[in-house]
Amino acid sequence: MAQTLAEMAVEVLTTADGRAKTALAHAHAAAWRASRAGEAPEIPVGRADPPLRPARPEKPELLDPRDVPRRRPGSLKGQIAILHAVAHIELNAVDLHWDIVARFTDVGFPPGFYDDWVQSADEEAKHFNLICDCLESLGSHYGALPAHAGMWRSAEDTVDDIFGRLAVVPMVLEARGLDVTPGMIEVFEKAGIDQAVAAMKVIYSEEVHHVAYGSKWFHWLCGRDGLDPKPVFHDLVKRYFHSALKPPFNEEKRAEAGLPPDFYWPLAEETAAKQRG
Ligand SMILES: [Fe+2]
Ligand SMILES: [Fe+2]
Repeated sequence: MAQTLAEMAVEVLTTADGRAKTALAHAHAAAWRASRAGEAPEIPVGRADPPLRPARPEKPELLDPRDVPRRRPGSLKGQIAILHAVAHIELNAVDLHWDIVARFTDVGFPPGFYDDWVQSADEEAKHFNLICDCLESLGSHYGALPAHAGMWRSAEDTVDDIFGRLAVVPMVLEARGLDVTPGMIEVFEKAGIDQAVAAMKVIYSEEVHHVAYGSKWFHWLCGRDGLDPKPVFHDLVKRYFHSALKPPFNEEKRAEAGLPPDFYWPLAEETAAKQRG
């Protein structure tokens, strides 16, 4: 029998090598799109049993964030380290998006939910490959440096809470990406690494709608269950997000992605008040 979408997601999650994982991600996304467009037999969403943690290559070595060497953006070594960290984030994002496809099939989402996350997963696979290409042009590769352990933590923490997953992954972590990416683009512009500038610009433009999908489906769930989204969001972030929400925020891109200031500013102010004691 043909694979269900949930089974396709699990196949990506259990593939370790980055290039192989992303090739499979592209192929499955194309199959899903063709099926949804009526150009191929229908693929049911189905049901599967995703692993608690996705398969990953032997390298990079995963270290506690405190032990990952600091990057100095003014040197080539530092620029390679930034690209390596981005590649690691993108590979993680491929798995995060397939995980949300496979894990919450009992929630009762309409098919558009799957369209959105399959598209996001497809784009993350592209991002990973674009950044790997940059690393290889600069004489390095993904796996050459250590990377942050613990990036999967928010997925594990929200393994049985779709509200929490949407609040923390797209609406906090991916939104944070919108805040920091312009600074990275600037680093590579200054360094004259055009390939990295182009790759980061693709990432920057596509990440806006990943955040928007998060906000859209979070609001959909709250609406279905008659909940007020803002206080629910605040509670979930406090419960599941273990680091601080810190300005400066990219207010313009966050607004474009359906994240109003009263979602994130109160959390940032609370953190600041705590730090003041
Ligand atoms: Fe990405
Ligand atoms: Fe993303």
